[in-house]
Order: sequence, then structure tokens, then C-alpha cells
Amino acid sequence: MNGCEEAVEFLPVNNAKKVEKRGPRRWVVLAIVITVILLLSLLAGVLVWHLRGGNVWVQKVFNGHLRIKNENFIDAYENSTTAEFAQLANQVKEALKLLYNKIPALGPYHKESAVTAFSEGSVIAYYWSEFSIPQALVEEAERAMAKEHTVTLPPRQRSHHSFMLTSVVAFPTDPRTVQTTRDSSCSFALHAQGTKTTRFTTPGFPDSPYPAHAHCSWVLRGDADSVLSLTFRSFHLAPCDERGSDLVTVYDSLSPVEPQAVVQLCGTYPPSYNLTFLSSQNVFLVTLITSTERRHPGFEAAFFQLPKLSSCGGYLRQAQGTFSSPYYPGHFPPNIDCVWNIEVPNNRYVKVRFKVFYLVEPNMPPASCTKDYVEVNGEKHCGEKPQFVVTSNSSKMTVRFHSDHSYTDTGFLAEYLSYDSRDPCPGMFTCNTGRCIRKALRCDGWADCADYSDELNCVCNVTHQFTCKNKLCKPLFWLCDGLNDCGDGSDEQGCKCPAQTFKCGNGKCLPLSQQCDGKDNCGDGSDEATCDKVSIVTCTSRTYRCHNGLCLNKGNPECDGIKDCSDGSDEKDCDCGQRSFSRQSRVVGGQDADEGEWPWQVSLHALGQGHVCGASLISPTWLVSAAHCHVDDKGFKYSDPTMWTAYLGLHDQRKRSEPGVQEHKLKRIIRHPDFNDFTYDYDLAVLELEKPAEYSNVVRPICLPDATHVFPAGKAIWVTGWGHTEEGGTAALILQKGEIRVINQTTCESLLPQQLTSRMMCVGFLSGGVDSCQGDSGGPLSSVEADGRIFQAGVVSWGEGCARREKPGVYTKLSEFRDWIKEQTGV
Ligand code: ARG
Repeated sequence: MNGCEEAVEFLPVNNAKKVEKRGPRRWVVLAIVITVILLLSLLAGVLVWHLRGGNVWVQKVFNGHLRIKNENFIDAYENSTTAEFAQLANQVKEALKLLYNKIPALGPYHKESAVTAFSEGSVIAYYWSEFSIPQALVEEAERAMAKEHTVTLPPRQRSHHSFMLTSVVAFPTDPRTVQTTRDSSCSFALHAQGTKTTRFTTPGFPDSPYPAHAHCSWVLRGDADSVLSLTFRSFHLAPCDERGSDLVTVYDSLSPVEPQAVVQLCGTYPPSYNLTFLSSQNVFLVTLITSTERRHPGFEAAFFQLPKLSSCGGYLRQAQGTFSSPYYPGHFPPNIDCVWNIEVPNNRYVKVRFKVFYLVEPNMPPASCTKDYVEVNGEKHCGEKPQFVVTSNSSKMTVRFHSDHSYTDTGFLAEYLSYDSRDPCPGMFTCNTGRCIRKALRCDGWADCADYSDELNCVCNVTHQFTCKNKLCKPLFWLCDGLNDCGDGSDEQGCKCPAQTFKCGNGKCLPLSQQCDGKDNCGDGSDEATCDKVSIVTCTSRTYRCHNGLCLNKGNPECDGIKDCSDGSDEKDCDCGQRSFSRQSRVVGGQDADEGEWPWQVSLHALGQGHVCGASLISPTWLVSAAHCHVDDKGFKYSDPTMWTAYLGLHDQRKRSEPGVQEHKLKRIIRHPDFNDFTYDYDLAVLELEKPAEYSNVVRPICLPDATHVFPAGKAIWVTGWGHTEEGGTAALILQKGEIRVINQTTCESLLPQQLTSRMMCVGFLSGGVDSCQGDSGGPLSSVEADGRIFQAGVVSWGEGCARREKPGVYTKLSEFRDWIKEQTGV
């Protein structure tokens, strides 16, 4: 290969000399070099200036509104195609031009302005102005536009008064909305008709999806001196994501300006969600901007006008009563102030209980209260709050409510009463919050006052209580039970395992080396449940078994969105445990469920008796329920399938014949053969439907947990049903929901001695208060697991009374029956 080298010819040294000898051209070369250097440095300078934004011009569009003085609103102004509209719009444009010309940061860069609408008051004009501004001046221009200006056009020949604009303000606009104001292919204008409701929808709703990459707008108007109430009855947009999701915005203006946005909505909402909004004037602008290609039905909305409130707030002179934010439970209107002056007889004090309180402002730190707020006793309240009480040290109290120009919420509902100033809680203990509780609840280890004041400064009873570091008293048997009952962890200190060992879920201490080694050393599987690396281990009764027979050391791997088994069997048959709606309502008084929130919940009606038990849907043809619901009693054949009707997709017991609700007859009832009518052991039944159910927004199956699935103590779980709302009370009409927690088995055995079997689990609060009750039996416990999927942890079975202290509800543990259910139903 060295043949190549021979071909290389190096330049002989004497050649260099030859070049140097061409003397006369040297000056030319030098001149060229200097010019090039000069040019290069010029270029660099220009480049630096350019990069700093020197000559970068940006298009900026501002949306704004202004008031025209001395002008009366006429109907023709509502329609942008009339001559009157055009004439007034031209005058406004002329005046705007004049205004911008007086401002150095705006005048030279103004390109175009247009008026998009007028409304009453005396006349308000909505407009946009477009500028092409050097980058460096943008901020200054934005500041100038946001200031309120006034401008006057000198009088013309024919009119003798001058044309005056006041409160001229504008704000930079999301570039996407600009097209909305220019393109009219998806713009609609609607005027409220008398007291009637006007309906409107996204194009094609509900049969075809709303258009992709669309900019739609709806101008809603009412008569002068009215306000509008707008409700979204159905709302299904693409899911919200950080950037570029499809978005509906409602403005308290006819200009799409952010400082007057009332709400921004995306995703889906159940029909029972409170989506009613009030305007402060007689207009609303609704815009829909879509960027995604996904297919969703859109929304259906309706609005009507109502007279503008002449005042809100007032004098409250009764001994007790209620008051609320304007239009509660609709979202309060923007830009309103109300004052309530409460006055009770001289020797008494005032107490106000806020039962519902939602004044949440998006993108604001929660405690700032600079926008919407309630002010009592000089203290401002805002955000979302659980029930709270405010008291006064006199017979008077003033409550103020303020809402600013943007973003509104449900508001508040409050009740006030008077009390004897010398004895605020006759015969009871007074919490520091002002609430009255029974004397016996003081120092009992349970926080009955929301602020724990009933558990402070207590002397614990040493025979059955433990004194926490924070001075709270807790039952002795809670020591070292693996749960932080004191709140400061002191009940779990000193029960730790020695160094180089770890603590099992059941309290055992084992060497660290036994953790995640594939063997169930603890005996409860807890040493193998949370291992980072999923590996194949020896199969035991606590390891998940893939269809190919291999076992995993991972806890609850079914349907968690991660394929753990090499054959993918842990992610098979996962069409379950998902809701159609991405949002759930906040509770506005009570614990009503949302429609579609628990689509697997079934109501079982016995012939001539109405609702008797609950059940859950696990497949198109099978339900899970409690065996005790199907035992013959007092001459009624509850075990006979023909006696029953199952209602699926039901929300309100009075609305069983509404569309969406499915009525099914039962073909078969299979009670667990070991069910014991005395102990309620094996309280489980599966029911076969005569015809398969049709899945829909409100009818869907719940996931069944694998036999190895663990619902650890302390986990929050939901219980649902139409059962009694209190012990000895009456059944609910609307499906109820309650959040309860899994209670450690040993704790529960000590609360319900000799009554618990391994097929049962306790779920509830030891302090009582939330529980299932008569009529909830057979219904599911819904547990949100990894990936947001909902699994059925248990079946409502029995309890001592309902919601009693230290008597939690008892549920059939569903994981114990996975194999039996499979055998009976194939599911
Ligand atoms: N056995 C009752 C029924 O038939 C359910 C009771 C549940 N009780 C309780 N406290 N959790 O509806």
C-alpha cells in the first residue's frame, strides 16, 4: 500500500521565495485585508444589535374596551352590518388613531384598529388594535395600552358636541384569539328572549365532534340593565394539558381580555357539576379555541337574562338566619361588593358559620386574598375552606364580600345565630373555633374541634391512654401499630426495629438482606411488596402469578399501566375501573355523588319494596353483591332472582325511567355456599343478569382485585350507596359517597372482639362520623389504585349501628374471593 506515497509531491522550498518576489501587489493585498476586517466588524456589530432585539419587529394585537360619552345605545349597534354601526365604529377608530398619535411608544407603530361590538352603558365599544413594534418597545407599549385613557374628537360641522371616549384600556391578546375576532365562520350572536332560556352548542353537538383548529365565539346579550346567567349543561372537550389544549373561555365583556375572564374550561365535567356563571353587565363572550385533532362532542350551554341586582348584602336583624354570595350556588358575578350588617339583641353575641366556602382564584397564591374575598372582623378569607365559624365579641358583626373583574367561583353559604355572651355553649365544651361539642368528647383522644382545641391541655388516663409528645391522649392499643396516630409520630417511636433490620407490615423485625429477596419472610408479603426491581420469584400465596405461571415480587401489579409479566397477562382484561368524566364535583353541602362518578354502582329493588341493597357491575352480565341480601326472610323470597330488578346507571331513585338508566332482570343468584347467616362470614353473592348491560358514560364495570392484592391500613377508600343517611334514619334519594380508611386488622379485632374473620375488613374512622348504613349492603368499596384505576376492595356487609365511634363498618374482603368469583362467573 505504500505506492500512494510515491505520488505525493511536496512543494519545493524555493517556491516560497518565488511568491515573495511578487512585490508590487503587496499594497493591494493589504488594502483588501483591511477592508475585509472592517466589513467583518461591521457585520458583527449589526449581528449583536440584531440579536439584542434592535431591529426585531413584533406584531402585537391588543383587545380592549372603551366608553363613549353622551351617546345613546340604539338597537342598530348590536348588528355590525348596519350603517349606524359602521358610522360609530369609524368615529371610534379615528379617535383611537388620534390617541395613539399622542403616545410616542404607540403612534408610529399603529397599523390598524377595528371595532367588533357595542353594548349599553352609555355605549361601550369593544375593539382591537394591531401594532408592529420593535421588540425593545413592546413592554413600554403594553404599559401605555393598559393605562386608562380619555380622548376627545373636536366637534364636527353637523354635530355640535364633541365626541368623547373615556376608560380606554386594552390588553395584549393571545395570538390565537385574534383570528376569532376576524374570522366569522364560527361566530354567533345571541340575544336573550324575554325570560326564556336560549340554548346553544358547539357545531355538530352531540352527533359529531367539534372542529379541530377552530376559533369559535358566541356573543351573548341581554336587555339593558339585565345580567346573564349562563350554564354549561354538558361539557366534553379534549383532556386538559399544559400546552395547547382545547379551551373554552367565558369573558365578562365582549372583548376576549384575560383580566375579564370569568372561567377557562377544558376536559370533561359530569352533568351535576356546578357550571353556572353570572355576568356583571348584560353581556358575555364565550370563545372556543381548539388545537387538537382529537374527537370530542363539545358542549351544550344555555343562558337567560335576569334583572341586575340593585344591591347585595343587607341588614340582618333576626335571631338567626342564612345568607350567601350573590346567585349562590351559581358562580358569583365578577366586580361586585356586598355588605351584611348583622345585629342581634344587646346582651348576645354573633356567630357565623360558613357551611360552604369556595373563593378560589386560579394562578394566585392561596392565602393572598387580593382578588375575591370575604372579610369578617377585619380578617380576609379566600380560597377553598372546610366549614368554619367566626364569632364576634359584641352584638354586631359586619361581613363583606368582594369579587374583582376576573375568575369567579361558587362563593359561600353561611348561617348566623346569636348566643349568650356569658355562656356560648350551654352545658357543652366550647372549641377555640367557637363550635360547641359534648363535654364527654373533651380529652378522649379524638379531635372533635377542627383545631384540636378539645384535645389540648389534657391529662391522659394512664390505664387506657398514651400521652403523645404533643400532649394528645390516644388509646393505648394504638402504640406501635404502624400508623402515626399522634400526628407527631411519637406513638410509633421506640417501637422501631434495631439497626440493620427493617419492620414488616405486621411489626416483625427482620434483617435487611431479607427484603426483596423473593421470599415472603415477613409472612404478610410486606418485605416483597415494594421492591424497585420487579423480578421473578418463587411463588407463594402472596405473590402475583402471571398466566405463564411465573410469579412477581411486585405488589398489586394488575392493570397499573406497566407490563410486569413477560406474557403481559397482568395488563390483560383491564377494561374496568375507569370513569367517563375527568372531574368530580366539589361537595356543595352534603355528600351527593356526581352522575357517572360510580358507574359500576347498582341499585337492587325487591318486588314491592323499592331499593333494598346495592351491588356492583363486574362484566356485562355479572354483578357482585352481599349474600345476606339474598336470604329469605319473613315470608319474602329474597333468594328468588325473579323478585329482583337491578338498576344500572342510576343516580336519583326518583328518576329510574330516565334515559341512560338500564333496568335488568336477574337470571341467577349464586350465594357463597359458606355464608353464615349468624356471623356474616363469607357474605358474598354473584348475580347474573338476564340480558347483558350496555356500557355507557354512566354504566361501566369495576376492576376485581387479584387474590394477592393488598389494600393497606390507612388507605382512603370510597363507599357509595342509597342507604340510610344516619342510624335509624331514612334512605337517600341521590347516590351518596363517603371517604373512609382501611383499619388495621388487629385494631379492628379489638374493637369488635370475636366477631371478625379473615374474610372481613374494617373500613371507617375510629372517631365515627362517616360510614355505610342500612341499605348500602351489597354495594362496593371503590379504591383508586395505581394509574387511577378503581378496584373493588370490599362489599358492604355489617356494622354495629352506623357511624358510631370505635365501631367502624365491616366489609367482605373481595381479594379473598377472586378465585371463587372466577369459578362462578368466568370473570
Ligand atoms: N347490613 C346493612 C344492610 O343490609 C349494612 C350495614 C352496614 N353498616 C355499617 N355500619 N357500616 O344494608
